Amino acid sequence: MLIRRARPSDYPAFAAIEAQHPGYPAWGEKGFEAEERNRNSVTLAAEIDGAAAGFINFWILRPQVQLNTLAVDKAFLRRGAASALLGKLLEYAAKNLCREVDLEVNERNAAALALYRARGFELVGKRPKFYNNTDAALLLRKTLPLKD
Ligand SMILES: CC(C)(COP(=O)(O)OP(=O)(O)OC[C@H]1O[C@@H](n2cnc3c(N)ncnc32)[C@H](O)[C@@H]1OP(=O)(O)O)[C@@H](O)C(=O)NCCC(=O)NCCS
Repeated sequence: MLIRRARPSDYPAFAAIEAQHPGYPAWGEKGFEAEERNRNSVTLAAEIDGAAAGFINFWILRPQVQLNTLAVDKAFLRRGAASALLGKLLEYAAKNLCREVDLEVNERNAAALALYRARGFELVGKRPKFYNNTDAALLLRKTLPLKD
C-alpha cells in the first residue's frame, strides 16, 4: 500500500468510494477539486495495486489539524488503509508542530469510532441532530505530545 498526495485523476475514484457509503457526507469530484485552492488543505490517497482505494482530507490550521473526510473502498476494508492514512496525517501534524487533531463523526458510525479510539482520540463534545437533523456528531480530539 502506498500513501501519496492525491491527484485530480483520483477524484472520480474518490467520488465512487463515497457513493459506496450511503449516508456518508459526499464531496464529489468538485469538492476535491475545490480543496486545491485551499493552501491549508491536504488530500492523500491510499493506493493498492495501482488503484486509489481510499482517501483522507485535512486542514493544517496550526496548532490544530482538522480531519474533514476519510473513506476506504468497500473492497479494501479492514486492510489498514484508514490507519495508514491517519498515520500520515499524524506525520503531517508533527512536522507542522500541531498540538491536536480534531474531527466530527456520526455517533452511529461504529467502524470509525473504533478506528479513532484505537488511535487515541477522545470525546470532547457532541452536536445533537448534526446529521440530517437526526444523528448527533461526536467531536473527537487527539492531543499530540510535545517534542523537544
Ligand atoms: C471507517 C473506515 C474509514 C475504516 O477504514 P478501514 O481501512 O477499513 O480501517 P482499518 O483497516 O485501518 O481499521 C483500523 C481499525 O479500526 C477499527 N475498525 C475499522 N473498521 C471497523 C469495523 N467495521 N468494526 C469495528 N472496528 C473497525 C478496528 O480497530 C481496526 O483494526 P483491526 O482491523 O486491526 O481490528 C471505513 O469503514 C469507511 O470508509 N467507512 C465509511 C466512511 C466513514 O465512515 N469515514 C469516517 C469518517 S469520520
